[in-house]
Amino acid sequence: MAKDSLTITDNRTGKQYEIPIQDNAIRTADLRQIGGLVGYDPALTNTATCKSKITYIDGDKGILRYRGYPIEELAEKSNYLETAYLIVKGELPDQKHFDMWRHNITIHTMVHENIKKFVDGFRYDAHPMGILVSTVGALSTYYPDGKDIMNLESRRLQTRRLIGKLPTLAAFAYRHNRGLPYVYPDNDLSYSGNFLSMLFKMTELKYQPDPVLEQALDVLFILHADHEQNCSTNALRAVASSQVDPYSAVAAAVAALYGPLHGGANEAVIRMLQEIGSVSRIPEYIKKFKAGEGRLMGFGHRVYKNYDPRAKIIKKVAYEVFEVTGKNPLIDIAIELERIALQDDYFVSRKLYPNVDFYSGIIYQAMGFPLTMFPVLFAIPRTSGWMAQWAELVRDSEQRITRPRQIYTGEAPRSYTPIEGRPEPSMREEAVATTI
Ligand code: CMC
Repeated sequence: MAKDSLTITDNRTGKQYEIPIQDNAIRTADLRQIGGLVGYDPALTNTATCKSKITYIDGDKGILRYRGYPIEELAEKSNYLETAYLIVKGELPDQKHFDMWRHNITIHTMVHENIKKFVDGFRYDAHPMGILVSTVGALSTYYPDGKDIMNLESRRLQTRRLIGKLPTLAAFAYRHNRGLPYVYPDNDLSYSGNFLSMLFKMTELKYQPDPVLEQALDVLFILHADHEQNCSTNALRAVASSQVDPYSAVAAAVAALYGPLHGGANEAVIRMLQEIGSVSRIPEYIKKFKAGEGRLMGFGHRVYKNYDPRAKIIKKVAYEVFEVTGKNPLIDIAIELERIALQDDYFVSRKLYPNVDFYSGIIYQAMGFPLTMFPVLFAIPRTSGWMAQWAELVRDSEQRITRPRQIYTGEAPRSYTPIEGRPEPSMREEAVATTI
C-alpha cells in the first residue's frame, strides 16, 4: 500500500478504496469511485480549486508572501508597479525591464473618449463601484482582441491595458460623482501620484501629490495586490474558465469585491466606527456583536487565524498619514475597539483579529476619499493579482470550465396539475418560504 495515500472503508458496502495524497490533498474526483460520492463543501472552505505559484498565506502564523517575498519587505522597499511586475511575471525586474514595464503600462492609461459619455449617463449619485463594474466590462467591446486568450502577446497586452486603465476609470467615476470635469492621466507622475492627480486636480496646471500621501497610497496598493483564492479571485477564475475575455472576467471580480463581506468591508468599518461614535460606547457594541446583532467589521478572516500582517503595516502607515492630514478621530475608537476585542473570549476563542480593512478606511478617509471610493481603492491594485491569476488559469492544462456539483434536496418527481386543481398558496407555505 502506498504511504502517500488514504484508505477509506465504505461501511455501507464494506469495500475499501485507496486514494492517493499529493501536496497534502486528495482529488475529490477520486471519491467518485465510492458509489458516486462527492465532497460537500459549501463556500469552498476546505477545497483547493487550483495550484498556484503567486501568493502564499499561512493563516495561523499571519504570513503573506508574493512570489516568495514577505509582504513586509515589499511594503517597505518596493513600489506598486514593481510589485505588480513581480506578481504578473514571477520575478522582480531589473532596471531595464522595470522601465519597459512602466512605459508599457503608462501608454495605456488613456481610455476611449466614448467612455466619458457613458460614465455621464450614470445618475449623479451612482456608487463608483457600480460604475467600475460596468466600465471595466465595457472595455471588452473596445478590445475584441481580448478574446484571443490563448495568445501570449494578447494576454500581455490586455494585462497592461487593464492595469493602466483601472485608475482612470476609477477616477472618472469619482469625478462624475462630484460633478467635476474628468482629468486626463499625467504619465510623468508615479502610478499612485497620477491616480491622485486624476482625482483631486483642480485648476492648477500640474498637480503635485503630497509625497507622504502618495507613498502611503502606494503601500496600500502593494498590500492589496493579491490574496490568493479570495471571493473576487475565485469569481474571476470561475468566469474566466468559460474562456470569456479578461475584461468580462475582471468585471465579475469587481462585482464580487463590491460586497460588504469582501472589498466593501473597509467602508462598513467606517460606518460602524461612526455609529459607535465614542470610546465609551464600545462595550455596548461589543455586547451586540457577541449576541449576533451585526458583526465587528474589519475583524475575522477565512484564512487568517492570527493578526492579518497587512493590518499591522496599515496601522503604522495611518500615523504617517495623520502627520500630513491631521488625526482622524476614528482611530482612537478603532484602537480601543481592537484592544477590548482582543481581550474578549468571544473573539479570542474564534481567532478573530483585525484584517486589512480595519485600518485602511481610516487612512482613506483622512486622505479625503469618500466612503464609496474605498472598495474602488481595493480594485485598482488587485487588478495585477487578478491578471496573474487569470494567466495562470488559462495556461493550466488541468483547468476546465468551472462546474461544481450539488446535492439535490428538492421535490421527488411529480406530475403537472392543471391550475384549477392546485392547492391554495397558504397550504403551500413551506415551499414558498424556502424559495425567496
Ligand atoms: N464579528 C463578530 N463575529 C464574527 C465575525 C465578526 N467580524 N467574524 C466571524 N464571526 C464569528 C461568526 O459569527 C462565527 O461564530 P459562531 O461559530 O458562533 O457561529 C465564527 O466567528 C466564524 O465565522 P464565519 O462567518 O463562519 O467565518 P467565515 O470564514 O465564513 O467569514 C469573514 C470570514 C471575513 C466573512 C467574517 O469574519 C466577517 O464577516 N468579518 C467581517 C467582515 C470583514 O471584515 N470582511 C473583510 C475580510 S478581509 C478582506 C477581504 O478578503 O475582502
